[in-house]
Amino acid sequence: MKRHWVAKKTEIQENKQRIFQVQGLEIGLYCVEGRWFAWRNVCPHQGAPICKGRVCGTRLPSLVYQYEYGMEERILRCPWHGWEFDLTTGEHLVDSGTKLRGYEVVCEGEDLFVVFP
Ligand code: FES
Repeated sequence: MKRHWVAKKTEIQENKQRIFQVQGLEIGLYCVEGRWFAWRNVCPHQGAPICKGRVCGTRLPSLVYQYEYGMEERILRCPWHGWEFDLTTGEHLVDSGTKLRGYEVVCEGEDLFVVFP
């Protein structure tokens, strides 16, 4: 496994993404609820730059005529067709078998590293 330094912790704001080039790949780095996540900048649907999508919440399952909004700042919405992914798991909200390609993020002191298998 190879570790690549990507940023200082202070450079990544909570619920905002930063996109980095690592080994020729674009990787979006996110801080969600104090944890770090790295996702490849490719949507599994049709290849959009998913990390340029909005970080937001989503409509939750609810009864007819009810509207519940939740998971605020934990959803990444694809900019092309609006597919939504959980930033903490990479899973598509409807089809959990469809996932973003993720990488482990290691935090050492103030530095963040992305780990490639
Ligand atoms: S390319 Fe992402 S939802 Fe279609």
